[in-house]
This record gives sequence, C-alpha cells and structure tokens, in this order.
Amino acid sequence: MHNIKIIEKKILQAIEETENIETLETIRISTLGKKGFISEKLKKIGTLPLTERQAHGTILNHLKSQINKLLHKKHQEIKKKTIHQRIQEESIDITLPVRNNPIDDGRIHPISQVIHEITSIFLKKGFTLAEGPEIETDYYNFIALNFPKEHPARDMHDTFFFHPNEKGETKLLRTHTSPVQIRTMENQKPPIRIIIPGKTYRIDSDKTHSPMFHQMEGLVIDKTSTIAHMIGLLEEFCQSFFETPSIKMRFRPSFFPFTEPSMELDIQYHHSKKETKWMEILGCGMIHPQVLRNCGLNPEEYQGFAWGMGIDRITMLKYDIQDLRDFFETDIRWLKHYGFPLFS
Ligand code: DAH
Repeated sequence: MHNIKIIEKKILQAIEETENIETLETIRISTLGKKGFISEKLKKIGTLPLTERQAHGTILNHLKSQINKLLHKKHQEIKKKTIHQRIQEESIDITLPVRNNPIDDGRIHPISQVIHEITSIFLKKGFTLAEGPEIETDYYNFIALNFPKEHPARDMHDTFFFHPNEKGETKLLRTHTSPVQIRTMENQKPPIRIIIPGKTYRIDSDKTHSPMFHQMEGLVIDKTSTIAHMIGLLEEFCQSFFETPSIKMRFRPSFFPFTEPSMELDIQYHHSKKETKWMEILGCGMIHPQVLRNCGLNPEEYQGFAWGMGIDRITMLKYDIQDLRDFFETDIRWLKHYGFPLFS
C-alpha cells in the first residue's frame, strides 16, 4: 500500500511535468493501458486474500480516476498552449512599416506640372485643348503660316528634315505648335478658342536650348476680337501663372509671317537680389489675313489673334531651375527634388 502511494505520486508528477501530447499518451498506456501498471494490478486483485481485496480495489480505482482526470486536464492544457503558440508564431505584425506606396514616391515632371497650370488657367476662361502631329509637312509648318519657300524667316527655325519619301515629300519635325492653328481653322468653324500644348523641335542645344522643347500655342478667332483683348488676356494669364497681380510686362513690336501686327511679350524678373532683367516669354499678334484665307476663312468677316510661348523657359523661371538640359536627363534624384507630388 505504502508502495502504491509512492507510485501514485510519481505518476501524477510525471503527468504534471509533461509538455507534449505524445509523452502524455505514453504515460496513459503505461498506466491505464491494457498492459499498464494499474490494469495489471487490478488483474492481480483476485490473488489477494479476501480481506484485502476491497481496500485494494478502492485504492486502485481511485488512483485510476485520479490519473484519468489529470491526463484529461493536462491534455487540455497542452492543446491550449500549442494553439496559443501557433497563433503567436504565425501571426503577421501589421504594425511593421510597409514599403512606400508608389503614389507617394512618384513625381510629376515640372514641365507637365506647368502645362497643367497653364491649361487650367485657359480652360477656366472657356478655351479647349487641341493637338496635332509632331511630324509635320512643310505646308502646315511653313507655307500655310505664310512662310513661302525661300522666305528668310524660315532660317529662324533650324529645322530637322526627314529624307524625302517616295512621293518626293520632305516631312519635318514641327518647329512650333503653330501648324495646329491651321489644322484647327481648316476643320472648325469660328468662334474658335483653343490652346495647344506640345513638343517642338529645333537644331539647338545649350544651357537654355534643347533640340526638343515645349510650346503652348493659343488661338482666338471670331468676328470681333481685337489686339486689346489679346493684351488683356495675356496680362491676366501672366498674373495668374506667376501668382502676382503686380508683375511687370512689356509688349515689343516684332515680326512673324503669320501675324500682323506682331509682338513679343517680356516679363521682368529678379535675376539676383539687386538686379532685375527682362525675359521674353511669348510671341503674339493678330492673325495675318493671308493665313485666314489659307484656311478658307474670309478675312473681311473673321479676325483674331494668337500667341506661342516656350514652356520650358517659364518653368525654369517659375521654379528656379538653372539648366534646361536637366529636364530631359531622367535623373530620378533631380525629379524627386524638382518634381511635384501627385495630388499637390
Ligand atoms: N511660332 C512662333 C515661334 O515658335 C511663336 C508664335 C509667335 C506663335 C506669334 C504665335 C504667334 O501664335 O502669334 O517662334
């Protein structure tokens, strides 16, 4: 009997100390299993003297139920612990910083930003957007705009020409956005109010010139628009774009074959703390009657004005960018610095 007490203690202790289900099962088999310790003892009760049998049976059955209870309890405990451990191991810590959203990393190129700024100023005034091809014919780039063949004004446009095609036609990369004026007037009845942003090409490359650059053309055709409307519109534009009502401007007489009279608009800017300078930002003028005629419009009935400005240079001025060539280097560090976050 005394022996059993010690064994009971040992068994219960072993169960208590078990950490896994397999060991628990081994204990169960070695105690309660068919050939287990308790089962063997119970089988042997019959060999005991009658007087001892009942007491022995009671003790063994009590021990059996003790072991059973403890096994069950331990089983539950281990199961719970295992599940808890798995949850701990397999859970994802969503508080960790994730990779940057590409939307936060991306930047709008300053030129795209400025095209957007200029466009929205004119769209608010009732203009619409127009576009045209970058590979143009001599007719749209020059002739229809009143640059006849051999006209000296053609020399101002250092043109990229293609080799003549099988029809003997020599195409070119448009040197300005003005051919889209012609394409629009050919296809659309006045009143016309359009702006034309786009890429243009000339053989030129230095700190302030690139062979590919950007222009924004504007065209207004109706029966009543005058040079006063043009000046007023361009003044309002400069005030909005440069975000100052006091911007200093001057219109200078100039020459373009497709406008008469023609002018250039300069704005004053701070070159350094003390020094101010004038910078030409656009050419403009009243549409030449010959250009209207070339598009099938009667100059006795219709009139209007146009302007063309270099986007790259006013972008440099507005956002203090020193070298025009950096626009086209596709340097991601430069873009991070000078570009604009989406939705800004
Ligand atoms: N196309 C001219 C250029 O590239 C700019 C220009 C001047 C456009 C006067 C116009 C204009 O529409 O009226 O130098």
